[in-house]
Amino acid sequence: MQKNKKLLLLPGDGIGKEVMNEVRRVVDWFAKRRAVAFDIEEDLVGGASYEAHGTPVTDAVVEKALNADAVLFGAVGGPQWETLPFADRPERGLLRLRKELDLFANLRPAVVFDAMVESSTLKPEIVRGLDIMIIRELTGGIYFGEPRGIEELPDGTRRGINTEVYTTPEIERVGRVAFELAGKRKDGHVHSVEKANVMESGVLWREEIQALHDSDFQDIRLEHMYADNAAMQLVRNPHQFDVIVTGNLFGDILSDIAAMLTGSLGMLPSASLGAKDPVTGMRRALYEPVHGSAPDIAGQGKANPIAMLLSYAMMLRYSFDLPEDADLIEKAVSEVLAGGLRTLDVMQKGMARVSTGVMGEAIIRELDKLSA
Ligand SMILES: NC(=O)c1ccc[n+]([C@@H]2O[C@H](COP(=O)([O-])OP(=O)(O)OC[C@H]3O[C@@H](n4cnc5c(N)ncnc54)[C@H](O)[C@@H]3O)[C@@H](O)[C@H]2O)c1
Repeated sequence: MQKNKKLLLLPGDGIGKEVMNEVRRVVDWFAKRRAVAFDIEEDLVGGASYEAHGTPVTDAVVEKALNADAVLFGAVGGPQWETLPFADRPERGLLRLRKELDLFANLRPAVVFDAMVESSTLKPEIVRGLDIMIIRELTGGIYFGEPRGIEELPDGTRRGINTEVYTTPEIERVGRVAFELAGKRKDGHVHSVEKANVMESGVLWREEIQALHDSDFQDIRLEHMYADNAAMQLVRNPHQFDVIVTGNLFGDILSDIAAMLTGSLGMLPSASLGAKDPVTGMRRALYEPVHGSAPDIAGQGKANPIAMLLSYAMMLRYSFDLPEDADLIEKAVSEVLAGGLRTLDVMQKGMARVSTGVMGEAIIRELDKLSA
């Protein structure tokens, strides 16, 4: 008999716990109705882990994450932990997990649901039907390159230094994620983004991505674009993009631009992927909403659970190759929004304001309807 896949849930702090509750209900629904069953473990991370164990993530939890087929992460942080030493802060728990799992590819979809077209700051005709995937290299580039630091100069002035460094294997592995993913999408089109006009690391990036394309992914359409132009084009005509793959710094900026095309933080999922396990062929993976623990609304039933639920849908799609089940969740979310229900963060005139639990319940009812 095939073994159930292992799923680790780390709700974290603040609204992380509230939105994870809604995911659990959807996980249960899938186990009952679609025979998508997981062996689920839940554990502490962030401030919750600090309170219980004096550290934002324990070695035991890191071990569980390394042994899981996928990790679903809520959010961490809160004002009560902001004065702790740097190493004990809740965010260090997430950073340690990303590092130990070597999650080098960050996936941020920017999808505009029809019912949310009016929430974008751009004109409806520019964003309607938008579906872009930004893949940001997450463990290299200028955020980690050496030398770095601030130096005193003999003349009494100072010099700040950071170094953009990329190696062939770093570019190749994130490029491979991008091409493989594009191959599963309708358009199968990759834009590789750098600044090859002014940076040698950009020249290498362009050459390596082109070489990988020519050797292994000739059926995928590849275009190269400079990062400044990509930023402009994302706002001018975002529909020209399907998958964008880029380095750490440009990805940080471009994924935030793309996020704003879609409206609210409460709707944005993400995934971080690592190397493939040599035995199972599965990539290490952690799925999480883009938003934080929102201490300003925590415990009030105001959080939008959609980003967390869409993170679960991404997990079904990318870790477990269950695109139909992922589609079902995305369709249910789209229908519920079209029906006029909104949490506070995405409230629009004429819509009905609902709590976290009512939104989760409505999505479950829609799943029932869609699968009837
Ligand atoms: N990955 C993470 O765990 C992560 C990411 C960002 C921030 N944080 C932490 O979260 C805490 C709060 O940070 P912040 O306020 O800068 O960012 P935040 O994302 O928590 O909140 C920003 C604003 O968006 C609202 N918001 C966020 N998610 C929402 C949702 N699902 N539904 C409704 N409204 C939502 C919040 O109420 C708040 O007004 C800090 O401790 C920060 O370090 C954690």
